[in-house]
Amino acid sequence: MRKPVMAGNWKMNCDNEEAEELANGVTARAGLNEKVQVVLCPPATALTTVGKVIANSNIALGAQNMFWEESGAYTGELSAQMLLSCGCEYVIVGHSERRGRFGSVDEDEADDLAAVFGDTDATVNRKARAALAAGLKPIICCGELLAERQEGKTDEVVVAQVKAALEGISADDLANVTFAYEPVWAIGTGEVCDADEANRVCELIRGTVGDMYSADLADEMRVLYGGSVKPANVRGLMEQEHIDGGLVGGASLDADSFGELITAAEEIRGQ
Ligand code: 13P
Repeated sequence: MRKPVMAGNWKMNCDNEEAEELANGVTARAGLNEKVQVVLCPPATALTTVGKVIANSNIALGAQNMFWEESGAYTGELSAQMLLSCGCEYVIVGHSERRGRFGSVDEDEADDLAAVFGDTDATVNRKARAALAAGLKPIICCGELLAERQEGKTDEVVVAQVKAALEGISADDLANVTFAYEPVWAIGTGEVCDADEANRVCELIRGTVGDMYSADLADEMRVLYGGSVKPANVRGLMEQEHIDGGLVGGASLDADSFGELITAAEEIRGQ
């Protein structure tokens, strides 16, 4: 059976003091939870701080991004080894905000951001492979833009992203891969994807992995949903067969609401 995951992606929020306080709040509520894998993904500057707070708990540390090279002249980038040395076990790879896939904001700004961050299917694959080679567990994000959904291209886009992300990844390494389906139009908008539809796309991701590897391996792989997950909608999502947890932005910045999400995951899916 797949252990549910509740991962908080803090994005560019929390200085060290705020990060320590938030990590303490989550640890107080869920630090000893054995039924849900809680993951905290603070900004890189707070990894060490949060790592210390959660050191004696069951909560895992995750980074929000990484670069695929081991070291060298890559100003501002972080290697898998550096993240491991901060205590990371997970790393988010290919978040839509790093792919520049901002479907719900001003298009001019979206173009600017795409140029700044610029992750593509190819770089996402390189990052995922480098993470696995170093012993980090990638949480690989995929999801369609609003326009792609409106044009009926959701399945095509998601399947292509999944296949590209997994190129060259062995069946053994697949055991350490988690996917997160994050429809771009549902991120930070308050507009959650309908639970049935989120489940359908998560099943599509699992089926795609099943076709590439085997049904057994796909059955063991965790697929999360992300996009405006909050206490009010988490239960409907967690009740879905193919949704193994959440990758949560806004609601993970408040220890009470994140704690409620963890409790819901435990009650509905915890074994
Ligand atoms: P929100 O939960 O704020 O919509 O963010 C989702 C997300 O992007 C998590 O990675």
